[in-house]
Amino acid sequence: MPKTDILIVGSGISGLFFAIKTARKRPDLSICIMTKEKANNTNTQLAQGGIAVVTNQLKDSFEQHIKDTLKSGAGLCDEEIVKMVIQQAPERLEELIELGAIFDKNKEGQWDLGLEGGHSQHRILHHKDSSGLEIEKKLLSIITQTANIELLENHQVIELNTETKRNEVNCTGAFFYDKNNNAIKYIRTRAIVLSTGGCGQLFENTTNPAIATDDGIAMAARAGVEIKDMQYMQFHPTALASGNKNPLFLISEAVRGFGAYIINDEHKRFLFKYDLRGELATRDIVSRAISIEMLETQKKHVYLDCRHLDQDDFFKHFPSISAHCNAIGLYPEKDLVPIVPAAHYQCGGIKVDRNGVTTIKNLYAIGECARTGLHGKNRLASNSLLEALVFAHQASNNIDKTIAAFIFSSKILLPKFSTVNIKNNYEPYQILKKELQKLITSFYASDEHDTHLAMLKIKMLKNEAENLIDKNEITIPFIDFSNMLTTALIIIKQCQPEKEHSY
Ligand code: SIN
Repeated sequence: MPKTDILIVGSGISGLFFAIKTARKRPDLSICIMTKEKANNTNTQLAQGGIAVVTNQLKDSFEQHIKDTLKSGAGLCDEEIVKMVIQQAPERLEELIELGAIFDKNKEGQWDLGLEGGHSQHRILHHKDSSGLEIEKKLLSIITQTANIELLENHQVIELNTETKRNEVNCTGAFFYDKNNNAIKYIRTRAIVLSTGGCGQLFENTTNPAIATDDGIAMAARAGVEIKDMQYMQFHPTALASGNKNPLFLISEAVRGFGAYIINDEHKRFLFKYDLRGELATRDIVSRAISIEMLETQKKHVYLDCRHLDQDDFFKHFPSISAHCNAIGLYPEKDLVPIVPAAHYQCGGIKVDRNGVTTIKNLYAIGECARTGLHGKNRLASNSLLEALVFAHQASNNIDKTIAAFIFSSKILLPKFSTVNIKNNYEPYQILKKELQKLITSFYASDEHDTHLAMLKIKMLKNEAENLIDKNEITIPFIDFSNMLTTALIIIKQCQPEKEHSY
């Protein structure tokens, strides 16, 4: 029966940074990272814009970054958490650089700081337009060289196990599907860290990869952990409305910070009608304005106009975006780029304290799956990689002190199912998934939520899915789908204004 002191679920920035920090501090602990596909198949590696940090106290200040974050969060941020994250940012950035991540500098050798919506100052450190990819690559290369970290790709954690002793619930292990050997197995643990990302795949239009099915939130909810603020989904205003459909390719917010305009079908800028900051208003405002414009003009998209920008500079700053557009026959220097808002980031999630601890003491959540209080109603651009670093650090320090109190459970659990049915590209699930995406997308878009009807439809989808499976075996596509159904239900419940917003 395998065992590890700490199991990390997910291989994005938060899980990897946590693993490295903890492994270095505690070489006596065994750390295992399980990730359901290839390790680099994460939302992190798709992050383009960068990481918001106050690096120049002469031109910028913590106070301004704090103010921008609170304003973007529309009064729903936890101010103490906002202060903690922003004040820690320079130190965490230093550590990331020490681990090998490279960020762009200008001709004078200073940080080439980008501007994004909702920021009152240029403060985004970036690696061209592929900041997440740079970070993911550097962290993964360290992970593979660290003796007390085991990285298991194609290992999908499917259920957390809890035990109650003296009225306290502990997380003592997890069932997982080892795709390489087509077997369900159990691992015993002393602590578990969820870093499983978000739920973008619940929506028809998303910038999130196919793996973003909110497995961590669903597993935590089933284990009885509190989930909060799931009604606050962030839509990115500028996803490319051409080419790949799922996910839609992201056109970084940094492009608007660089001076691009958003125009309608009549080639007119319209955002100033909604906010004096125009293209540089926060994402919620820009996305809503675009949706209204599309509805009023009955068009399927609006446009990003980059034609007036310095083309050499544009290409230098955004090589991946330029290359992606060119590959589908779009040339931003002369063509308008069609864009739509797309589900991008889940502001709510598993409720955690300032150390990433959930309502179960030895279960942590960090990164997008966690609800820390930093984002409130709407995350400020480029605050997510920062949050991941800070909470990975906090959780790492905390676990160092607390893990001694958690010993391995002596219970040996056997998987309920001995046979596994793979059916990976099983068409009926794809159809059900599309129905679920349609349901959540229109539920979310409507001002008057018909909660009762939406819940009924979820129940019907669940029944349909269950009818597709053989009760004597576990059907792999059903794992992701049932996690999506669990999260969909939480979102629907938490969208009820009169209810307490917890699961
Ligand atoms: C972007 O580059 O626009 C995405 C960065 C973020 O989500 O903060």
